[in-house]
Amino acid sequence: MAKIYIPYGSVEGQTAQIAEYIAEVIRAHGHEADTGDLKRSGDTLPGGYDGVIVAASVHMGKHEGFVADFVRKNRGELERLPSALVSVSLAAHGDEESAEGYVAKFEEETGWRPAHVGIFGGALLYTHYNFIKRQLMKKITRDKGSPDLDTSRDYVYTEWDGVKHFTEDFLAGLAAPAG
Ligand SMILES: Cc1cc2nc3c(=O)[nH]c(=O)nc-3n(C[C@H](O)[C@H](O)[C@H](O)COP(=O)(O)O)c2cc1C
Repeated sequence: MAKIYIPYGSVEGQTAQIAEYIAEVIRAHGHEADTGDLKRSGDTLPGGYDGVIVAASVHMGKHEGFVADFVRKNRGELERLPSALVSVSLAAHGDEESAEGYVAKFEEETGWRPAHVGIFGGALLYTHYNFIKRQLMKKITRDKGSPDLDTSRDYVYTEWDGVKHFTEDFLAGLAAPAG
């Protein structure tokens, strides 16, 4: 049985949900999983884990700075253990080039080159945003030519099946003999 840690950064909560879902998938395969909200738990990577999946979301073209801080501080451990990055953005839904660009920027900023990278769609949570954020996100969405402009509802683009397969591939990699 493996024990996996899933530290995450999330501003509006979608990446938190994805991290919890990854933990559920891991537990369903008979392993242990703990999530850690990096906004609250700080920079420490607790010991005793066999693998780490770092999840972060993109705002204004960048992943959370506190996730980058965590990665920089724990890069040695992340390189020693099987580890993965999960990147959550709206660009992941239809603008792959930008979504990959955010990951490249994060890798450059932190010096960490994760062996596994999962890029998943986030959510447009109009009903959770304050007035200004709602107008901003509606404008960005309209400028992109997307029809998802009804601010009385939310739009979730996360491909849950893709998250499940990514997690299962990561687990399969843990079981495979090294080298
Ligand atoms: C203020 C704001 C700025 C955003 N900027 C970007 C962006 O630059 N690129 C992008 O692909 N998605 C952007 N998004 C979309 C978020 O990545 C998406 O909503 C994601 O689900 C947020 O994850 P979280 O809820 O875990 O914070 C932005 C969202 C908000 C609210």
